[in-house]
Amino acid sequence: MPDTPARPAGRRSAEVAPPIPYTAVVPAAGLGTRFLPATKTVPKELLPVVDTPGIELVAEEAKSAGAERLLIVTSPGKDGVVAHFVEDLVLEHTLASRGKEAMLAKVRNAPSLLEVASVIQDKPLGLGHAVGCVEGELADDEDAIAVLLPDDLVLPGGTLGRMAAARARYGGSVLCAIEVPGDEISAYGVFDVEDDPENPNVKRVRGMVEKPHPSLAPSNLAAAGRYILDRKVFDALRAIKPGAGGELQLTDAIALLIEWGEPVHVVIHEGTRHDLGNPGGYLKAAVDFALDRDDYGPELRAWLTRRLAQDH
Ligand code: G1P
Repeated sequence: MPDTPARPAGRRSAEVAPPIPYTAVVPAAGLGTRFLPATKTVPKELLPVVDTPGIELVAEEAKSAGAERLLIVTSPGKDGVVAHFVEDLVLEHTLASRGKEAMLAKVRNAPSLLEVASVIQDKPLGLGHAVGCVEGELADDEDAIAVLLPDDLVLPGGTLGRMAAARARYGGSVLCAIEVPGDEISAYGVFDVEDDPENPNVKRVRGMVEKPHPSLAPSNLAAAGRYILDRKVFDALRAIKPGAGGELQLTDAIALLIEWGEPVHVVIHEGTRHDLGNPGGYLKAAVDFALDRDDYGPELRAWLTRRLAQDH
């Protein structure tokens, strides 16, 4: 046994970052129309980034930030998304009996990460509506949730941990922001922020607007699909009306929390963010991940170099 004094139960040392909330919500009810025809039968969240579905990468991110439960919001006909997190004992037995240990480890990864539950969003009424669907699944003492949009890959990990630290310091809700060029800003939820010269990477949010016209965007800081939301967000979600695109927008509920005087902050993400929600972004993510792999990286790099040279 290591000779370290036991820490009192329920106390964390100052150096240990607070974990994100117990439940990580992953909205995965969309139709994936930008990926048709593939998404006619395959949910877009299961499309592989090299060999691993995007939703498994997001589950790994949630687990490493300290979440213990993954709550997937899904829609009728998308059972495969949840099935990916269920053990397949027949497949595992087959792989084990053939001595395929590396493949066995890959197959066992998703079911071993977190406790997984699902809730059905039966009508496509928007991201705000999807998040509102989980309220009844939470225990009374869960005072916040994490929300991870599976379209967004936010790399390297660690941003969720910094968001949890910001919530521990300021309370309320904390979101992840990325800088986006002006001509792309109207695809996002956009923040109106107040600078804190002492803390350039955490900003207080004064307001938030979903998919503004570029000339009306309050900044170039956009929501990047990672949220730690105080439980009061459910009151706000009940109070909002359909917004951009005629949908119930999570952004509008967050804007309402701010109007109610609740603290909302953003942590600026430093690193890469991939948008798996469209084929172009998905391809970049797959190439980026593959280039870093020992098994596919060297050959892909050599081929890409030759292929790109042909363009000149
Ligand atoms: C959603 C959110 C938006 C956010 C974006 C990040 O939009 O509504 O606020 O900036 O995700 O990817 P969507 O891409 O689903 O239209």
